[in-house]
Amino acid sequence: MLNKSIEEAINRQINAEFWSAYLYLSMACHFEYAGRSGVANWFRIQWKEEMDHAQIFINYIYARGGKVKLEPIAEVPDTWENEADAFRATLAHEQKVTALINDIYALADKEHDYATREKLNWFVAEQVEEEENVRDLLDKYELIGNDGTGLYQLDRELAARAYTTPAPLAEK
Ligand code: FEO
Repeated sequence: MLNKSIEEAINRQINAEFWSAYLYLSMACHFEYAGRSGVANWFRIQWKEEMDHAQIFINYIYARGGKVKLEPIAEVPDTWENEADAFRATLAHEQKVTALINDIYALADKEHDYATREKLNWFVAEQVEEEENVRDLLDKYELIGNDGTGLYQLDRELAARAYTTPAPLAEK
């Protein structure tokens, strides 16, 4: 049975993952509207991944005999100055998510909940990857600056990003 404080923390995290999904879907819509279909594709895949993260936590609560509680999703921004601005906001957001995951990890440690700790290991590694990917993209935007050809080529590169089911869901 899942400890109440951990159940509540994971339910809050489910909401945070859905908020992340909503944020990235909003970015995808913004860039589709702005004619940057590659960037829009990148954020659409990011949206799907966040939905998957929420589902992984939902499945975990079920697996431990807990109760899922879905709360309202708060409003998200809908405009960004340019691609680099959106990716800077993405990095800042992912850093916050990393801190949230670390907080649940610390709580699981305190409560001697080793199953939750084990589950969170995948998220800890995922956050390292997410932050690194966005930092790499920001480096590219910095190099390119306002060069139209560079921006076009990077947009084509981002159009090639493909969705893959994350391991914890693929195993199900
Ligand atoms: Fe679900 Fe981007 O962390």
